[in-house]
This record gives sequence, structure tokens and C-alpha cells, in this order.
Amino acid sequence: MNTSTINPIDSNITSGENKSFWTASTQPIIFEKLKENIETDILIVGGGISGLTTAYCLLKAGRKIILVEDGYIGSGETGRTTAHITCALDDRYFELEKIFGKEKAMLAANSHMEAIQFIANTVKHENIDCNFKRVPGYLFLNGSDTKETLEKEYEATKNAGLLTEMLEQVPALASEEGKWCIKFPEQGQFHIMKYLKGLTDAIIGMGGKIYTETKAEEISKDGAKANGFEIKAKHIVVATNTPVNDWVVMHTKQWPYRTYVIAAKIPKGKLPYALWWDTGNKNSKWIGAPYHYVRLQELDETNDLLISGGEDHKVGQADDENIPEEERYIKLVEWTKKRFPAMGNLEYKWSGQVIEPIDSMAFIGKNPGDENIYIITGDSGNGITHGTLGGIILTDIITGKENPWIDLYSPSRITFKTAGDYLQEVGNMVAQYADWVTEGDVKDADELKPGEGGIISSGMKKIAAYRDEQNNLHTCTAVCPHLGAILQWNAEEKSFDCPAHGSRFTTEGKVINGPATADLKKLEVKEEMSQVQDQNK
Ligand SMILES: Cc1cc2nc3c(=O)[nH]c(=O)nc-3n(C[C@H](O)[C@H](O)[C@H](O)COP(=O)(O)OP(=O)(O)OC[C@H]3O[C@@H](n4cnc5c(N)ncnc54)[C@H](O)[C@@H]3O)c2cc1C
Ligand code: FES
Repeated sequence: MNTSTINPIDSNITSGENKSFWTASTQPIIFEKLKENIETDILIVGGGISGLTTAYCLLKAGRKIILVEDGYIGSGETGRTTAHITCALDDRYFELEKIFGKEKAMLAANSHMEAIQFIANTVKHENIDCNFKRVPGYLFLNGSDTKETLEKEYEATKNAGLLTEMLEQVPALASEEGKWCIKFPEQGQFHIMKYLKGLTDAIIGMGGKIYTETKAEEISKDGAKANGFEIKAKHIVVATNTPVNDWVVMHTKQWPYRTYVIAAKIPKGKLPYALWWDTGNKNSKWIGAPYHYVRLQELDETNDLLISGGEDHKVGQADDENIPEEERYIKLVEWTKKRFPAMGNLEYKWSGQVIEPIDSMAFIGKNPGDENIYIITGDSGNGITHGTLGGIILTDIITGKENPWIDLYSPSRITFKTAGDYLQEVGNMVAQYADWVTEGDVKDADELKPGEGGIISSGMKKIAAYRDEQNNLHTCTAVCPHLGAILQWNAEEKSFDCPAHGSRFTTEGKVINGPATADLKKLEVKEEMSQVQDQNK
């Protein structure tokens, strides 16, 4: 299997120990670091699909931009996606109708179909060689679900103006669940890193500036600091997947989930190019009712790659279901083999983080309370279209152009019809602080073998400890610098993850995912754990 070539996480390339097929099959996209003070019209923070699409759209509208990325291009969640390009929103149209009404559900459908078309046009216009294809998508029943869900969804997609069809069989699915499905025509798929490369070429071609290994800090209405230099800007777009900064209000409207992916060879021609999703596990303890998502990707002359994802859980809470991270891959392989028996041996596995908004729609627009700072976040499992819409919508807001989707995606919107889910998610978040008084998952640093990490309790101190392959022990505080929850060890991606709002840290405490902006404070720990000292004291 093509597992990691990087250990511990080289967070400049990707935000996890396991490399995705996309990052493993392409060269890293690197630009120079920022090395001087600089002034611009619009500063964009984040080099994923959201930031790059925003840069591309603004340049096309004749504006001047600088984009900064603290790793390399695509090193966040975009490089770990599965890149289904779809209007089949994973929170379902009948739920959107309930929350927003029929008219807005129709606007949502229209916006995602436009995002798919935008990607198709960009691929063509910029001549991007990224295996882009129009494919059908099939939504079928999870074993825990009933046909009523499909019937309700079919009606709601029709109300929303989509050209869906109800089919009696799910094309290519070898399972009992393959009896009924909704077909979504004219969806899309591509190789995400090749698409990002095409976008960066176009951005540079239009005079945009991109800096990698350049972390934006102290973001304010005047710009930001990065690598010790000043960036002055009139508008600031924060496209960091989850907003970085102490903008607490957004972190009470969305929740982080970890999702898993496996990829296996399959002989060419065994399966049609298509997208498949099930309706989600209705017995799951998670509000997000985790679902499976499957597609094909061209690999070589004789094989395609079957890419299958799912088995999600709230970040840092895999063990709450007694299913540790590594077992999630095993379950995913079993699930996929049963439905696509022609799949071969495992070639890749990786996991990533999705940000689930409380009312199904991403948050795109002005950051609440700010006039010239904008965010793109909460894009759930539909971040490829949501991120693309982010670029389109923010460009229209900044250039003063009308756009029918601004209110629907506004980060300041208030939705009342999700109160039950909201309270359950808040309750889960608050419960994470109980880890202050529970034991750690490792009693003593001696228990850690090379390559292992864990949380150790020492009195009221919580320690994030990692023993590297050379047997050196690395210890930091396990208290998240964002709002003080206790971190959890992620054994599969080798990181310390925060169960409250999804911040993540490398084995040595470097922040790799917001909302936290600071690294973990180092602690000096005697091996037998008798003494713990802050290194700064
Ligand atoms: C396993 C998995 C499968 C998925 N499958 C699909 C799918 O099939 N279809 C779909 O539509 N969506 C899917 N998604 C969701 C989608 O991939 C993401 O929502 C989307 O890629 C997020 O893009 P982004 O640009 O907003 O964030 P990111 O790609 O995370 O980009 C944000 C960038 O900001 C950078 N950054 C952070 N802080 C700073 C700072 N202070 N200064 C500078 N840079 C900073 C980060 O390094 C990062 O590169 C999936 C997600 C995962 C994890
Ligand atoms: S991410 Fe908010 S407390 Fe850790």
C-alpha cells in the first residue's frame, strides 16, 4: 500500500500522516515565501479550493490580490478530499425545505449546479488537464434507512428544480441496498491537485501573487502579519476552512467531523464512472448521520482507482463508539467490498476533517461584525462546490455586484428550526471539557513505543506526549490554546486533535488546523513523570 512517505507530519505538504492519492500522485505546488512588507487591494488567506477560486474570480474581475498559504497549495483539507463535484447536498433537500423554505432550497440547488458549471467552464477556458468528467450521481439507501427517505428527497429535489430521476436499481451496486436510488445527472469529478495547479497557473498568469510557507497572523481590518512582515489590504478573505482567530461566534454554529477514505485498484471497465452515496447511518450517535461516498478515478492503462469514504465521527471522539481510528478503515474496506466486489488490494488510505454547519449551508460572506473581513467556512461534505461558490459570492460582494445567493449563505444568518440539533452539538462540545478530570489514555511516558503518542495526566496537568522513531520524547501541554479543551491523540494521522472545535497539532505541538492560531506550549517532563515543568519558566 502507498502509505506515508512523511513522518512525522510534514504539514507543508498535507495535514496528516497518511498521504492522499492526490498529493501522492503530484508534485507539491510551492511558491516563494513572503520576504518583505507588501500592500494590496485584497489579501486572501488559504491556498485550498476556496482561497484559490476567490483569487481567480477577483483577478478576472480586474482586482489586485495576494494569496498567502502557511503550507503549500492544497496542504489543507482540499488535498485530502475525494472531489465529488455535486449538487446532491449531503444534508438533504427535504431538510433544507424545512429549515429555509422551498424557494431557498431551490436557490441552493441552483447555486451548486452553477458551481459545477463554473468548474467545467474554468477547466475548458484555462485548458486544465485534471481528468474532469461529467458523471451521474446515485443516492441509495443505507441499510438502516427506509425508502421513505428517498421518496421525500426525490420530491424535494424536484421542487428545487433538479432533473433527478428515481431508478429501481442502483447502477453497478452488488448489494440488497441496490434496489432504489435517485439519479442526479450532470455531476462532476476531477483530480483535485491537478485542478489547483491549473488555478494557480491562471492566477499567476493574470498577475496575482501567491506566497507559500507564509502564515497570516494578527488578521485585522488593515491586513495581517506574516513571516514577520506587514501585509496591508483593503479587504481580507479568510479561506482557512475553519476561521482562524478568536471569532468565537462562528465556532458555535459549526462542528468538526473526521472522515476516512480508502482507495483500491479496480480493472478498467468493471465499473462506470459515476458517484455513489448512501443516505447515512440512521442509528449513528452523531447528528451528521455518517454516510458512504464512492467514485472512480483514472489510474493507468489497465486500472482505475475505486475511492470510497465514510465511517465519520466527531473529531477526537472515535473511541466514544469503541471504534478506534484504524478500525474505521477496516470497516470501510468491508463495506466497499460487499458493494463493489471487483475492488482489488488497498493502495491508499487517508482521513480528513469536514466542518458541518448547523443548518446545512456553508457560511460565505462578511465575518459577523466586520465590514471588510470575509469568511468561507462550514462547507460540510460539499466543500468543492461550496468553496467554488465562496469565490463567486465573495467576488460579487467585494465588487458590489448583485448575487442571488448572498443572504442564503450569510454567516450572520439565524436559523431557528435546528434548535434540537444545536443543543445536542453544544452539549457534546461542553462535554469535552470533562476530560480535564478524567485520566489520560497513557499512564506513563514509558508506555509509549517509538512512533506512538497519547495524553498523560499528571495531577491537574494534561500532557500531549509523543515518542519519535529515534526514541526521543516530545511533550507539550494537552490544553488547546483556542478555548482550553483537552486534546486527543489521533493514532492514524499522528496528530493531537481538539474535540471541541477541531484544532489540530503535530506531534511536536505545531498548529496545523484552526481555529487555534498558536502552537502548544512545550513542557519539560522527566521520563518517570514525577515532575512537569513549563519550559518557559
Ligand atoms: C476525506 C474528505 C473527503 C471529502 N470529499 C468531498 C467531496 O467528495 N466533495 C466535496 O464537495 N467536498 C468534499 N470534502 C470537503 C472538501 O474537500 C473541503 O470542504 C474543501 O476542500 C475545503 O476547502 P478550503 O479551501 O475551504 O479549505 P482547505 O483546503 O483546508 O484550505 C485552507 C488552507 O488555509 C491554510 N491556512 C490555515 N491557516 C492559515 C494561516 N493563518 N495563514 C495562511 N494559510 C492558512 C491551510 O494550510 C489550508 O491549506 C471532503 C473532505 C474530506 C476531508
Ligand atoms: S479548538 Fe476550540 S478549544 Fe480547541
